Amino acid sequence: MITLGVETSCDETSISVVANGCVLSNRVSSSVHLHSFYGGVIPEIASRYHTEYIYSVFAEALKEANIKASEVELVAVTNSPGLPGSLLVGIAFAKALCYSLEIPLIGINHVHAHIVSALIDENLRIEYKNVFPFLGVVVSGGHTSIYSCREYDSFELIGRTKDDAVGEAFDKVSKIMGLGYPGGPVIEKIALTYNGSDNIGFPKALLGADKSLDFSFSGIKTSVLYYWQKCGKTNKDIQEISYSFQEAVTDTIVAKVKRALKKTGFKVVAIGGGVINNRGLRNKLCELSSDMGVKIFLPENGFCMDNAGMIAVLGEILFKKGYCSDLNLKTLP
Ligand code: KG4
Ligand code: ZN
Repeated sequence: MITLGVETSCDETSISVVANGCVLSNRVSSSVHLHSFYGGVIPEIASRYHTEYIYSVFAEALKEANIKASEVELVAVTNSPGLPGSLLVGIAFAKALCYSLEIPLIGINHVHAHIVSALIDENLRIEYKNVFPFLGVVVSGGHTSIYSCREYDSFELIGRTKDDAVGEAFDKVSKIMGLGYPGGPVIEKIALTYNGSDNIGFPKALLGADKSLDFSFSGIKTSVLYYWQKCGKTNKDIQEISYSFQEAVTDTIVAKVKRALKKTGFKVVAIGGGVINNRGLRNKLCELSSDMGVKIFLPENGFCMDNAGMIAVLGEILFKKGYCSDLNLKTLP
């Protein structure tokens, strides 16, 4: 079975071809360079970019997979959550393709797909079996959530951020220090250059005795702002803030995953989303994995950030389970 994935929920235009659980191509064209000047994604610019580039990304994905459009048997498209104008471009493209080729369409939840992306192995194949039940965690620019996953169509939300997402906090802290957008990669790079031993001790929210699985990252952002206003703004300050901020948020995520594992008794975790690119976080999760004797799935390179590979993979699985959408598929923000 050949499935085409379409992802346009934010600032990445992506098309992928998947055949029976194996990713044949996963092309991404990002408009991130157009947003850096503004310090965040400008929805209007993102949707115009999708309109301009979606066809060429589609053509590249087919070429790389060595298939013709007429061989596609299913189209899977992100229909929620995301920026409405951006989602609309991908959905219109997917619907037009399904209408002209007379093939089925399936709408996919972007956040669930980020979790499934962690199950795609180094041979670009999805790990289907022996993973359920597992803890699904998403750490991205728009979401920070924990799910109890019992099947590919059964994701129960058990924890979420009450305010900012963790990626958003990286982006805002970077903006405070004038380091540009997106903030995650630059903060990580600077944190690695810090060779001091002091940790400023920024707050780690909601780690109290109430055993909450929710997150909050707006307080740490304000703490960084106040610290920044008072400090000398030297390179050493920037290194120390980047390091201390990254330590605080990654410690918080690991503590919540540990708490959720204890609460559910699950032995498997799958974590996806742009922030899982962060080496510091990946290392701490690997330590947790050996300390607790649990298996942790992390996405391969190319599957952390927004991509259509994860959409096509989940689309194919759900279609085989009997799910299908019709051409009235709505954009759900
Ligand atoms: O999953 P994604 O591509 O888009 C959303 O669905 O939000 O994630 C983008 C987010 C941005 O906030 C970016 O700063 C963050 O992922 N990010 C990182 C790193 N690389 C990207 N955060 C921390 N460390 C990184 N290395
Ligand atoms: Zn995403």
